[in-house]
Amino acid sequence: MFQQSIYIIGAGGIVNDAHLPAYKLAGYNVQGIFDLNPEKAKSTAEKFSIPNVFVSLQDMLNAATAETVFDVAVPGSAIISVLAQLPDSSAVLIQKPMGENLEEAEQIQELCKKKNLLAAVNFQLRYAPYILAAKKLIQERLIGDINDVEINVNVYTPWHLWDFLYTAPRLEILYHSIHYIDLVRNLLGNPQSVYAKTTKHPSMPQLASVRSNVIMDYGDMVAASIHTNHCHNYGRPEQQSYIKIEGSKGAVKISFGALIDYPRGAADSCEYVLLQEGGEPEWKN
Ligand SMILES: NC(=O)c1ccc[n+]([C@@H]2O[C@H](COP(=O)([O-])OP(=O)(O)OC[C@H]3O[C@@H](n4cnc5c(N)ncnc54)[C@H](O)[C@@H]3O)[C@@H](O)[C@H]2O)c1
Repeated sequence: MFQQSIYIIGAGGIVNDAHLPAYKLAGYNVQGIFDLNPEKAKSTAEKFSIPNVFVSLQDMLNAATAETVFDVAVPGSAIISVLAQLPDSSAVLIQKPMGENLEEAEQIQELCKKKNLLAAVNFQLRYAPYILAAKKLIQERLIGDINDVEINVNVYTPWHLWDFLYTAPRLEILYHSIHYIDLVRNLLGNPQSVYAKTTKHPSMPQLASVRSNVIMDYGDMVAASIHTNHCHNYGRPEQQSYIKIEGSKGAVKISFGALIDYPRGAADSCEYVLLQEGGEPEWKN
């Protein structure tokens, strides 16, 4: 069991809705929390019985030991300043995006090296239960050689819930589709090149790009594409979000529900088909 004490920096949506419920299930030892907004730190601590609410990052660092693991869940633009203050050789989980542009990503990498941080950026989609199920089919060679990966998201995302996105110079790929790009790289390795166009939307002109079309180029025989539209404000019926992987012997289609009818969500599903000579393709759950 993972017993090190965890200190959380940032008490926002992701910490309340995902990290802390998961840590509770896993029995992780969360000992402290800090947020620039003390009310948010306090209410999160009350909700999840976290014993220490720190009023400043310095207070938190004074209480930390060499064993403390830092969970940094702040907007991408705040990561560098937080990391710069952590003690050398700390263990730290960082949220995506890894900064808001390439220069910031390089600075974050440089800081991690210079300070000898044991650091990871949270790309959890590649470990989601339905992806692990798909990978099992792939590893057992049941669907054969992959020749097509398609990720298609057509939902309505209320971006206005996250204040910091209004000043983010780039939005959709950094704050969302980066998970899909990570997943495709995890399945197929690095592409030869990437074609991408990311687009704003007339109903959200104050935000940077909120839709993306990404083609990851794996040569003449393997197609990989990501299409996201977060502005489908036409009700639930045509909303969809799926990952489809096709191979020479079969295919898998995962519908992931977290984004559907946000924040209500819908159930996830994972279906697959294995081609049988002479038989009709039959999809199974
Ligand atoms: N891995 C994932 O799937 C995933 C999902 C959602 C969000 N995220 C990432 O997590 C980060 C936070 O997202 P969120 O939805 O919780 O946002 P949020 O706006 O709900 O919360 C962010 C919190 O960070 C606090 N904060 C900002 N700067 C800080 C600083 N320097 N020190 C301490 N606290 C600070 C804010 O006061 C706020 O409470 C974002 O970068 C986002 O991209 C990752």
